[in-house]
Amino acid sequence: MTDTPIALVTGAARGIGLASAEALAENGFRLVVSDIEAEGVVAAARQIGGNTMAMICDMGDPTQIGAMFDRIEAQAGPVAALVNNAGIALPGSFLDYSLDDFRKVLDVNLIGAFAATQRAARTMVERGIAGSVVNMSSVNAVLAIPAIPAYCASKGGIMQLTKAASLALAPHGIRVNAVGPGSIDTAMMAGVNADPEALKKALSRTPLGRIGTAREIADTVAFLASDKASYITGETIYVDGGRQGLNYVM
Ligand SMILES: NC(=O)c1ccc[n+]([C@@H]2O[C@H](COP(=O)([O-])OP(=O)(O)OC[C@H]3O[C@@H](n4cnc5c(N)ncnc54)[C@H](O)[C@@H]3O)[C@@H](O)[C@H]2O)c1
Repeated sequence: MTDTPIALVTGAARGIGLASAEALAENGFRLVVSDIEAEGVVAAARQIGGNTMAMICDMGDPTQIGAMFDRIEAQAGPVAALVNNAGIALPGSFLDYSLDDFRKVLDVNLIGAFAATQRAARTMVERGIAGSVVNMSSVNAVLAIPAIPAYCASKGGIMQLTKAASLALAPHGIRVNAVGPGSIDTAMMAGVNADPEALKKALSRTPLGRIGTAREIADTVAFLASDKASYITGETIYVDGGRQGLNYVM
């Protein structure tokens, strides 16, 4: 156990989660990285270095989430900053979309974030830690794509979960915010990046004219988790290259 505050990032084996963990480590946190992918998360912990802990956890399973927090608290100490980043999209046509897929997406993206926030906050309240939570939302919290109906519903849910949790936890000095990325260069966007027509479509809705980097999201996560954001709670910051302000295709 150390006095260094602990940050837990879920879905941190790669992409935005790994970049966020790196940014938080640079900002003085001891990191715990968790992911469903065992090999990837161990490699991520090694890449971050220091005494970063790797945890294997399926964010779609609340029992595993509880067990992960029990282990972190026993081996390292309480989590002061939680980043609910793990997410899946599962595309499919609306008319054929299965309830199973819809539930799977909500389980990981929304219910997992709720369960982790609740578990982290219980310990923060018990120990008087004025911690913070950063949820990974998306422009799809407010803009929809028909091919990912469950994903859009889950990210809209994250925006409202962020507000409700921020109100519930404000009396304890705990802040809850979200980051809403636009199109970011990660495995999740690989299909779009590799397809010139799809990329052209995404860029036609992006005034800054390029895909964003994971680091650009990570820097916003690190800001929201830091004392520099001490008067911000219940907010979603959209890091989207200007997409939401655009009312025509360029
Ligand atoms: N890339 C984008 O353009 C974009 C845009 C908006 C929002 N986001 C959000 O950012 C977050 C990270 O996405 P990314 O782009 O880095 O994608 P990614 O696919 O590269 O990374 C997602 C990570 O989550 C992990 N994961 C998946 N299911 C999990 C589960 N059940 N339990 C634990 N971990 C699990 C994966 O193994 C992977 O390491 C997601 O919440 C995503 O919705 C991404």
